[in-house]
Amino acid sequence: MFGKIINYKIENNKLFINFEKRAGIIDIINPYVVNIFSALKYNDHYSRAIDNLKYEQCAVYFEQHNDYLELSTSELIVKVSDNFKVDFFNKYGEVLCEDYRNQREPFIRRGDSFLFEQEGHKAQEDSCFHKIEVIKKMYNDEKFYGLGEKTGHLNKKGYEYTMWNTDDGSPHVESHKTLYKSIPFFITLRENSAYGIFFDNTFKTYFDMGKENSNYYYFGADDGNLDYYFIAGPELDKVVTRYTDLTGTTPLPQMWSLGYQQSRYTYDSKERLMEIANNFREKDIPCDVLHLDIDYMDDFKVFTWDENKFPNPKEITKELSNNGFKVVTIIDPGVKKSKGYSIFDQGIENGYFATDKDGITYINKVWPGDSAFPDFTDSQVRDWWGDNQKLMIDSGVSGIWNDMNEPASFNGPLPDDVQFKNDGRPAAHKEVHNVYGHLMAKATFDGYKKHTGKRPFVITRACYAGSQKYATAWTGDNQSSWDHLRMAVPMLLNLGLSGMAFTGTDVGGFVSDTNAELLSRWVQVGCFSPLFRNHSAVVTRDQEPWAFDENTLNIYRKYVKLRYKLLPYLYDLMKQCESSGLPPMRPLVLHYTNDKNVHELNDEFLFGENILVAPIVEQGKNFRAVYLPEGNWIDYWTGETIKGMQHIIKKAELDTCPIYIKQGSIIPNYPELNYIGEKVISDLVLDVYPGDGEYTHYQDDGSSYNYKDGEFNLYKFTMTNDKNLVIKLETPHTGYKNHYKNFKLMINDKNINKVVFDNEEMSYIPTATGVEVTLPAVEGETTIQIH
Ligand code: GLC
Repeated sequence: MFGKIINYKIENNKLFINFEKRAGIIDIINPYVVNIFSALKYNDHYSRAIDNLKYEQCAVYFEQHNDYLELSTSELIVKVSDNFKVDFFNKYGEVLCEDYRNQREPFIRRGDSFLFEQEGHKAQEDSCFHKIEVIKKMYNDEKFYGLGEKTGHLNKKGYEYTMWNTDDGSPHVESHKTLYKSIPFFITLRENSAYGIFFDNTFKTYFDMGKENSNYYYFGADDGNLDYYFIAGPELDKVVTRYTDLTGTTPLPQMWSLGYQQSRYTYDSKERLMEIANNFREKDIPCDVLHLDIDYMDDFKVFTWDENKFPNPKEITKELSNNGFKVVTIIDPGVKKSKGYSIFDQGIENGYFATDKDGITYINKVWPGDSAFPDFTDSQVRDWWGDNQKLMIDSGVSGIWNDMNEPASFNGPLPDDVQFKNDGRPAAHKEVHNVYGHLMAKATFDGYKKHTGKRPFVITRACYAGSQKYATAWTGDNQSSWDHLRMAVPMLLNLGLSGMAFTGTDVGGFVSDTNAELLSRWVQVGCFSPLFRNHSAVVTRDQEPWAFDENTLNIYRKYVKLRYKLLPYLYDLMKQCESSGLPPMRPLVLHYTNDKNVHELNDEFLFGENILVAPIVEQGKNFRAVYLPEGNWIDYWTGETIKGMQHIIKKAELDTCPIYIKQGSIIPNYPELNYIGEKVISDLVLDVYPGDGEYTHYQDDGSSYNYKDGEFNLYKFTMTNDKNLVIKLETPHTGYKNHYKNFKLMINDKNINKVVFDNEEMSYIPTATGVEVTLPAVEGETTIQIH
């Protein structure tokens, strides 16, 4: 495709190479990140994922060799040879990633599929060749992670996927190649060394992770540029951080959006909504958010209310707000084709909708029937859509749920040639399909921010790389089945490694009827998913926490309460995520990369660095094997300390989700709350697991952007466990006036006989697991004598 190297030149940190047939560029972004580019369609990157490509000044060395050109930074060596073959080495000259030198050799499919198809099977398609293909040598020990929202296991080796946002109503199984999101980014890990590749191409892209041939893996695209970033580690977490440096991190959300959320397709009247709200309070289950699905609208017209079902929406949201509930409403892209409906009229008048190739408004069928599709690729349309959010905000709505934005229609995906303005670079649907939902979320985010001044709460179903900047996401229409609960864990973990840190699944499952046991186990995973929402489809059986028996209700309550208890810890994780890109829900391989036992753990995860969760995801099971990595771990329920680097068997009846705390952890806890903001928390509980450790707790107003101007507090705890247990508190930042008065330390050790804070002996109260001691929330040192 490229031919031999003819000549080259170096400008700044870029190496421009002319090959016989085309040109290529190697661009050093920083010592760890290199862009590989060939202008097969456009001369520039034209990225929808990277807002502002930041270069870091760094030394770059160049050498010309007989059969290759070499660029190096302090961390990486890049060698380029004929045919634009690019190989990457670490600074010691060890190979990290090599282009495969041979042609692809797909396996062959034998036989005639005719009778097989007559029986009702769908025959597998032959392997396709793509306009753009990058083929990389694959090593035996190579593992793959990331690729956004895909079915299957944590390790993506041996799978093939397509990036083409798809609303697929059939039960999602391991062989599904497409789902709602397209995040063309993956991480490979071998011999304790990780790197990532981000293929920034919005056309339909393809990823074969060694399925067709175990000698190589490849990625390809139907069109667009050859434009990928090589992101070096060698640490896995650094790859995630460097990827989110490029595409953006998840901004700190409003705290209530981390609370429990109840949804249903559909709560279709004010009475039903109020009944749900009251049930939460009566049954003592914390809840912050109620969702309204499509039936709240007048004839499915977006930005309207059906005032028969929901008379005076402003009063309804007010009444709910008085009881501590926020309301989130669904907004789909499809605008009902109906003259006299202001949104449709404005769209037509201003040319805001996508058109067919003759410039006529493109119409397809969704919930409202014939509908037009706003052209979110155009900034004017995004601004208009953003301003429309005000209609919802003025009704007292606190968050917006964007659905069907793959874009989906009742007739499948839109035709390839539907036309979009694409911010002055007109494009057909096939080019912008994968960023349609991403740009809808951006429009919603920007509008919400503009009209509230608060941190937006936007949920989106469709995503592209970088959507984390605008929205949280859920994994679409899952099934109420055990295999979907099982799949939820690796799916959320891989989303997190792909930048999407604020995600969750429909707790209980969306399609089909859930059951008491499944719901009880699902809430145990939901409790640790950043987005914690129960949602189910129309005509499925009730799925609210009280829809089954007393036992289910009690289990449900236990885990929702646990979530609220852990909220300040989760909020800390979201704050860290804003700067590091690391998701709250993490595969063990992120922190224990050198431990081979965790490379393929599909049913365990870390909730931050301090909590390990090993949920039960199988029917009828009341025990499981749990792998504990290096260090000592404390069983959250029994207090037993267990040595790591071993598999243990944990008994776990239906009400028990195995949870382990890393020794040396300090975990901030909230008191019991029905909803965020119910009480002013002046005394923060700290759940202390004696050992050596450090923890920084973050505090702000939980909703505004004032923290960006310094209105936040940091409380840094350093704990050492030598002769005595010593906990030192520093307050490196004190900008938020409502700081805590006291910290209530719950020290998980029963052998304490003296507590001294800054030379003053403190009283303490024995508890079931140790002692409770209240200390002023000021800098100082606490010495705890343990006999
Ligand atoms: C889609 C969504 C689902 C929603 C339904 C009705 O199927 O994925 O969550 O309830 O549409 O709006």
